[in-house]
Amino acid sequence: MKKGLLITFEGPDGSGKTTQVQRLAQHARALGYPIVQTREPGGTAISEKIREVILDVSTPEMDDVTEALLYAAARAQHVSQVIRPALLRGDIVVCDRFVDSSIAYQGFGRGLGAGVASINAFAVQGVKPDLTFFLDIEPAAGLKRISRSGGLDRLEKETLAFHKRVYEGYQELIAQNKERYRIVDAGLDADAVAEEIQSLFDAWMAE
Ligand code: TMP
Repeated sequence: MKKGLLITFEGPDGSGKTTQVQRLAQHARALGYPIVQTREPGGTAISEKIREVILDVSTPEMDDVTEALLYAAARAQHVSQVIRPALLRGDIVVCDRFVDSSIAYQGFGRGLGAGVASINAFAVQGVKPDLTFFLDIEPAAGLKRISRSGGLDRLEKETLAFHKRVYEGYQELIAQNKERYRIVDAGLDADAVAEEIQSLFDAWMAE
C-alpha cells in the first residue's frame, strides 16, 4: 500500500481550492487513511505569521525578491515542522499550495525566473509532491469569484495581466510534470469537482 505521500493542490486565485482540499481530506479519512491537512503559506505558527506579513495590503512596497524569500522561508518551517515528520510517519499530507505556487506566482507572475526554483530547493531539502491537482479556471473567472467574496489580499489585488502570467506558468509546470498533475475543471459546481478529485485519488492510490 502507498504511504508517506504528499498531495498538493494548485490553481489560480478563486479556483475553489480550499474547499476541495477539505473535501479530499474528508474522503480519504473516511477510507481510513491517516491524513494531515495543511496549507501554504502557513501550517505552522511561524509560517502563519509570515503569511500575514506577505499578504498584508498595507505594505504594497514589498520587494518581489523579499516576497519570494518569505514564501520560501514559510515553506522551510512548514516542511521541517509538519510535512517531513508526517511523511516519515507514513501519513498522507494534503497541502493547499506548495513549491509550484512560488514558481507560478513569483517565477512567472513577478518575472523572477529560475532563482525561485533554487531558493525553494534549498527550502524543502528534497521533499517533492507525489500527486498534484490543478484546479483549472481562467484567471478572469477566478478573480470574479473572489471579488464577490470581498476583502482581497495583496496578491489577489494584482492585475489581470499578473494573474494571466501565473496561469501561463502553471501551464508550463503541467507540461513539465505530466505524470504528477491531474487537471480538474474548477468551473463545475463544488460537488462535481469533489467527486472528480475523489475518483482520480482512488484510481491513483490503486495504481
Ligand atoms: P491562498 O489564497 O491559496 O491561501 O494563497 C495566498 C496567496 O499567496 C495566493 O494569492 C497565492 C499566493 N502564493 C504565492 O504567490 N506564492 C506561493 O508560494 C504561495 C504558497 C502562495
